[in-house]
Amino acid sequence: MTCKHQCDGKNRHKNGKSSFWMQDPELVFGELNLKEGDYFLDLGCGPGDYSIRASQLVGNSGIVYALDRNHDAIVDLRDKAVSVGSKNIKAEVCDISGPLPVKDSIVDICFISTVLHSLNLADVEKTLFCEIKRVLKPDGRVAIIECKKEVQPFGPPIGMRISPEELEGTITQYGFERISLSDLGCNYLIQFKRASENLPDPCGQTSCDIVLRPVGIIKNKIEKPFLVAGGSGLKIQGDLEDALGKIDRTSEEISNIIIDEGLAGILDGIEEYSHLIILYWAHKVPEEGRSLTKVHPMGREDIPQRGVFCTCSPARPNPVLMTVVRLQERKGNVLMVTGLDAVDGSPVIDIKPYVKDFYPQEGVHIPEWMQRLQEEVGKIKSRRKSNIN
Ligand SMILES: C[S@@+](CC[C@H](N)C(=O)[O-])C[C@H]1O[C@@H](n2cnc3c(N)ncnc32)[C@H](O)[C@@H]1O
Repeated sequence: MTCKHQCDGKNRHKNGKSSFWMQDPELVFGELNLKEGDYFLDLGCGPGDYSIRASQLVGNSGIVYALDRNHDAIVDLRDKAVSVGSKNIKAEVCDISGPLPVKDSIVDICFISTVLHSLNLADVEKTLFCEIKRVLKPDGRVAIIECKKEVQPFGPPIGMRISPEELEGTITQYGFERISLSDLGCNYLIQFKRASENLPDPCGQTSCDIVLRPVGIIKNKIEKPFLVAGGSGLKIQGDLEDALGKIDRTSEEISNIIIDEGLAGILDGIEEYSHLIILYWAHKVPEEGRSLTKVHPMGREDIPQRGVFCTCSPARPNPVLMTVVRLQERKGNVLMVTGLDAVDGSPVIDIKPYVKDFYPQEGVHIPEWMQRLQEEVGKIKSRRKSNIN
């Protein structure tokens, strides 16, 4: 097919160029084969002509995510979507060389039209293609339009152009394989899917984000954490005696750990253990608490600051907390336990059996300040006990 630029003056946009009119758009959409209900991701959407057309094809049960770093283009696209009655377009300002604001495994087609040549692909390819892989459904496709690598009277200089072979060489390193290559005249459209071969996955090996899926939720009467974490450090609620009284009550009060019903069978055999280790996410720790590296243990300013990893502080980079509890009863997917100090609503990350002998019993050393704290706690506990009796 020869290169004939179909763009007339009417189709020029003030917020960036569009490749929409460089070829017959229906030829492109014929190749994309969008269906009602599809999720379409338009990376570097520019004026959004493709997004608007896609929104009509995927209908109200589908979604179009239109992302571009150009703020004005996104504002205009939102207005355009309203004026044509497209309610299924989510247009966001976003630099596509970083994390994409799209959930995992929901996208049917990730579309990138005449954008890649303008990026420094060598610098951004890993993040970009790993992010695309993350958001694509297992059978999703990546569709890329690029300018042919030939001298043309318009468009990017030849040195910036990327040939289909170069593109394929890059994207296949991230676990994709080519499914089609179409001639659009001035441009080409190349499509990829996940590689069927089980190749080493550079995305899996280098990903910085770990996705945790809660396995359940904790339900009890503890409304607030007894140690409050903030940007300036830890603060105990009330005085130590007060706080310990509350903790002490958790040794008698029942917490219900409700395990996700979709994980049926995961608890089978658990009743044979008396004690369990509960790992949960301290969801009440504010973001600024996660950047603390040193704290006064238990918020006690009379004890010098210690590195967070030397303490059981809830404020830590990943607020994963661990408590050994006594299993009182299991009713289906609900574990009724005592001794759990987690706040009501805490997401449960994992459960393991407590096997005393797994842990060293001899030659265990703890710092002097920790020993002192333990002794104080012991004294307060026995005072409370004798007051109750
Ligand atoms: C030539 S236009 C193509 C627009 C649209 N895809 C089309 O074909 O009609 C390239 C677009 O990519 C956007 N873009 C370039 N680099 C980007 C980045 N790192 N993050 C988000 N958008 C980017 C630009 O703002 C511009 O709107």
